[in-house]
Amino acid sequence: MEKLIIKGGKPLHGEVSVSGAKNASLPILAAVLLAGGRYRIDNVPYLRDVNTMNRLLGTLGVECLHENGSVNVFNRGDCGSCVASYELVKTMRASILVLGPMLSRTGTARVALPGGCAIGERPVNYHISALEKMGAEIEVSGGYINASCGRLRGAEIVFDKVTVTGTENILMAASLADGVTVLQNAAREPEIVDLACFLRSMGADIKGDGTSTITVKGVGELHPADYSVMPDRIEAGTFLCAVAGCGGRVLVRNCPVSSMDAIIEKLREAGLNIEIIDDFTVLASSDGHIKAVDAETFPYPGFPTDMQSQFMAVMLKSDGVSLITESIFENRFMHVPEFKRMGADVSLNDSGAVVRGCRSFSGAPVMASDLRASAGLVIAALMADNTSEVQRIYHLDRGYESFEKKLSALGADIRRVPGDG
Ligand code: EPU
Repeated sequence: MEKLIIKGGKPLHGEVSVSGAKNASLPILAAVLLAGGRYRIDNVPYLRDVNTMNRLLGTLGVECLHENGSVNVFNRGDCGSCVASYELVKTMRASILVLGPMLSRTGTARVALPGGCAIGERPVNYHISALEKMGAEIEVSGGYINASCGRLRGAEIVFDKVTVTGTENILMAASLADGVTVLQNAAREPEIVDLACFLRSMGADIKGDGTSTITVKGVGELHPADYSVMPDRIEAGTFLCAVAGCGGRVLVRNCPVSSMDAIIEKLREAGLNIEIIDDFTVLASSDGHIKAVDAETFPYPGFPTDMQSQFMAVMLKSDGVSLITESIFENRFMHVPEFKRMGADVSLNDSGAVVRGCRSFSGAPVMASDLRASAGLVIAALMADNTSEVQRIYHLDRGYESFEKKLSALGADIRRVPGDG
């Protein structure tokens, strides 16, 4: 297994371009199950999760060829076996996104139940109960969700808790249902809006995406469409955190500014200068001084849980004490013990993580536990005095395209080597 060797202490300078959004690409690729034919999806990042989705679609009668940043899709129109196997689902929870479109289009779907993961239990009960409310018969047995229906019916769905992929699954399913579906307490994430735009370009009738009430009028048929995926706000935010933590001056291109208010505001509070050049370009600069600020994660438009570990890394060198609170996932602090191994002063209590900023901390060998924790560890390693090794970076490869190459081009001392961990 590969690892990253990072020698910390270098400020970052230059330009970086953000890739297409992983969490928009995955539902958009799943949505091609809704209509046979050819599609071209542009600005899709080369990531392990995207590759897994393409392989999964391949088993469902959809050919996906990912080249030159685009996925050329041919949906033969029959969903093959309509089975999303455990072999693939266990490597990527977002495989659950094929459930809604496959069921709605063909009347049958068998999808392995995703298990828990490092950041929490992550059940999919809201996906299931919403589809049942739309008329699906669902039985969970032998580790699989077995679903069948005639044509799904529109329904009023009230999510008990905001769920991103749950909202996406029901948006896709409702697009081909009979009648009107109203989703209440829907997720408002920009990736939901991107999916809704793609579905509209396929002929869907969706209103209210980006708000907590989305109305979908089912249509008899959808058609293929070409689309370009939005840039990745979490990747962009991760680079901004890297500049805040290391100091320097970096022009971030392809940065989806309008969907990053909470991230930009929080980093400005922490002392990062962010000049908004236009809708997709920002200039970030810092002299390395970091102010201690608290942060609490919330569903969009709040501060994203997917930025929590990276922001905590920045706080490791702040001028005071900050409290980082996680309100989405129960176990998303796996990076804390690793930060401590690097000599940082962080402790966990019932409210969250208390970070006491220190002027310096040493590098250490550390182990990534999930995708965003890995990004936090990389930033901490870039800020550390000595050399660190970040192991298990296959997590990082699930969600960051050419991460170390992009950082290296900004002057970071980082390299990927074969490893043992
Ligand atoms: N939840 C339930 N039941 C459900 C669905 C969710 O209890 O049926 C709970 C979850 O356990 C969690 C909360 O609701 O406590 C929110 O989970 P959500 O369903 O919104 O998460 P998700 O859809 O599984 C997506 C992203 C995650 C991101 C979260 C929160 C994708 C593919 N994944 O996950 O991204 O952290 O929303 O914003 O869009 C990542 O990219 O690293 C990542 C983990």
